[in-house]
Amino acid sequence: MTAGPVSLDIDGLLTRTPTVRHRLDLSRPVPRPLIAQCLQLALHAPNGGNRQNWRFLVIDDPETRAGIALHYRAASDAYLAATPPEALSEKAVAGVRHLADQLHRVPVLVLAGIRGRLPHDATLAQQSGFFGSVYPALWSFMLAARSRGLGTALTTAHLAHEREVAALVGIPADAFTQVALVAVGYTTGDCGFRPTPRQPLHDVVSWNGWRS
Ligand SMILES: Cc1cc2nc3c(=O)[nH]c(=O)nc-3n(C[C@H](O)[C@H](O)[C@H](O)COP(=O)(O)O)c2cc1C
Repeated sequence: MTAGPVSLDIDGLLTRTPTVRHRLDLSRPVPRPLIAQCLQLALHAPNGGNRQNWRFLVIDDPETRAGIALHYRAASDAYLAATPPEALSEKAVAGVRHLADQLHRVPVLVLAGIRGRLPHDATLAQQSGFFGSVYPALWSFMLAARSRGLGTALTTAHLAHEREVAALVGIPADAFTQVALVAVGYTTGDCGFRPTPRQPLHDVVSWNGWRS
């Protein structure tokens, strides 16, 4: 059984929008207008200088998804091989592996990028402004998708093969930088989802003085 739209208030959406890997419905197509609605909402996100240099490539063509999935799988395997066992729980590893194994079957992939390439000596402000001009929109997209019964997984693993993926989908890689790939599908079963587990507020927030 797959889920439909969910009724969550804003606090519910913010706390109950997990990365969905095992519970993506791989057999139910996602209508294009639904993705377009979510992207339309995402375009209201803050971005540096309101330049809106972002680009979003929506991929639902099976052949292209399969091509991207091959690169994703290779990059993800390399990432897991290089990650010390204590850094990721068994469950987390299983989730990452599952998505890598099934990515070609995920109904929609949204590849986000931004115009330009950072120089190698880019300042911290340039780096933050560059990538940070896309992430708020991606999170808005994920929240909008969630409210429509869709699950998402924000990923960056394939960026180790950025050039190959650029060639595959026709991105001029000297002019645009890829930022992330979001896997999208309907969620299966009960899509209530618990609040995503996070550290307690007092461990990470301080007032009027930085706590390391
Ligand atoms: C910048 C960024 C990169 C990520 N890259 C990947 C990835 O390549 N593969 C993946 O399976 N998950 C990826 N994730 C998802 C995180 O693993 C996930 O957000 C985190 O484990 C917390 O889980 P939750 O989103 O379900 O709360 C990424 C998340 C972010 C914010």
